[in-house]
Amino acid sequence: MNQIGKLSEREVTDRDLYLRRRDFLATGARAAMLASLPGLAACGGDPPAQASEASPPAGTRALAHVVPAPERFRTDEPQTPREDATTYNNFYELGTDKDDPARNAHRLRTQPWSVALEGEIAKPGLVPLEDLLRPHALEERIYRLRCVEAWSMVIPWVGIPLGDVLRRMNPTSKARYVAFETLYDPEQLPGQKRRVLDWPYREGLRIDEAMHPLTLLAVGMYGETLPGQNGAPLRLVVPWKYGFKSIKSIVSIRLQADEPVTSWNQSAPGEYGFYANVNPEVSHPRWSQARERRIGDWRKRPTLAFNGYGDQVASLYAGMDLRRNY
Ligand code: MTE
Repeated sequence: MNQIGKLSEREVTDRDLYLRRRDFLATGARAAMLASLPGLAACGGDPPAQASEASPPAGTRALAHVVPAPERFRTDEPQTPREDATTYNNFYELGTDKDDPARNAHRLRTQPWSVALEGEIAKPGLVPLEDLLRPHALEERIYRLRCVEAWSMVIPWVGIPLGDVLRRMNPTSKARYVAFETLYDPEQLPGQKRRVLDWPYREGLRIDEAMHPLTLLAVGMYGETLPGQNGAPLRLVVPWKYGFKSIKSIVSIRLQADEPVTSWNQSAPGEYGFYANVNPEVSHPRWSQARERRIGDWRKRPTLAFNGYGDQVASLYAGMDLRRNY
């Protein structure tokens, strides 16, 4: 990823040493804190494993009436601790270090929030987020997230299938692609004051990818509304693609005839393709994609084609050269 263009393989793969060091420090601090409380220390044993998990990030609230994920939309692999998934983030509008987004997320105002529905649809217009969500049941999806930087997580999302939203928009016969934009407001998203990318952040999907049942418009994670650093109040989740396709804090959904311009592809076309399907056989020019580090693990693991969702999505790309369409 990295706009400065100097990220080496070693830097990429050593990222979660940062998390382990932080966890180690946090555990030490927790143990010291608990030892200073006589009642708890008298119980002996380890401090509660979930101590740092107890309180959700600021500004989030519990989501009710969430339909549990059916088998094909869940993995039973251990979930990444919420603490890690909400403090180790890529959201360059809130800073380029991994812990910047959590620190700066309080600047993002997510209420009221509207989404512009635009382009090749029956009735374009600005829709309050509550109205966009109202007709739909919230569903849980437990997906692997594979970043192009070669780390991965397992996250329980809450959201609605993007396809259900698009169908209600009544696309015209010219709609072949879907383009998304993040909020542009440098006061709330101060990273936009630096020309790291050509803001606002833009992403896009082919219409069949957008309609695929795996593709989720997420409003929550770990049973709570999304924290700002994870893309509140509305983000995309496309689990078979590198994480940069999963655009955060969406304010516009446009159906159109042509392939949309997308931020990372525009910034470095030789490094980040429009398709960005997870592919262990196609290296990034500066590092291999054959293996990945699951956040929290010591050992790297092999990366799976389409991030392990090939049985559900490989047919979308039948006849395409995935080395050229990376
Ligand atoms: N969306 C916006 N608007 N800005 C970003 O910088 N980063 C992307 C994606 N969506 C990004 C974004 C990248 S590179 C990844 S890996 C995922 O968000 C990370 O999502 P997470 O922080 O919730 O794990």
